[in-house]
Amino acid sequence: MKRFFLTALLTLSAFSQSAPDPEVEGPKIIAEAFAKLSGALGEAIGKSGPAGALSVCSEKAPQIAKDVGTAHGVTLRRATHKPRNPKNAADDVEKTALEAFMAALANKEAPTPQVITNADGSRAFLAPIVLGNPLCLQCHGTPGKDIAPETLAAIEKLYPDDKATGFQLGDLRGLWRITFPAQ
Ligand code: HEC
Repeated sequence: MKRFFLTALLTLSAFSQSAPDPEVEGPKIIAEAFAKLSGALGEAIGKSGPAGALSVCSEKAPQIAKDVGTAHGVTLRRATHKPRNPKNAADDVEKTALEAFMAALANKEAPTPQVITNADGSRAFLAPIVLGNPLCLQCHGTPGKDIAPETLAAIEKLYPDDKATGFQLGDLRGLWRITFPAQ
């Protein structure tokens, strides 16, 4: 009996200490990464225009995701159905979530994040990235209209297989995926 209580107590305290709730932590982690990324992007565009700011997205974005993930003990990535960087192409789990988000948007509903428990006990938090800032269109909008010719040339040089143009405000651009390790 005593042993049972002890085990129960240990289990309970281990759980309350080290099992973050993805629904609570996920949005905070994403807000932090997004603020850092938007800040770096805004600053670089101000200084050197969208073509010059490309390196922020290609070098800083993965670094920011890594740093914020490490600080929170999770892994963080951006994935999409229309990748600029082929590394960010959605896998099957991400594709399913993207389809659900797109269905919600098509119904004029706000897409809601998903929490998935993986076979190994780790949990994933998947949250939609909807284009809400006109700034984004300078590199993801319509070439010739939103994207300046020199920006397009710089994008095509770095990403010969780019699929991430032609977006409009309100479109689904992709998702954030946070993986919370198994406890
Ligand atoms: C200065 C140009 C530029 C601007 C402005 C920009 N992006 Fe990007 N974006 C890029 C580049 C370059 C990549 C590829 C990054 C990489 O190599 O990982 C990218 C990648 C992405 C990805 C990852 C998926 C993929 O296609 O590789 C998402 C999501 C994304 N951008 C969303 C946004 C959002 C949202 C905004 C507005 C807040 C924005 N971007 C503004 C250039 C830009």
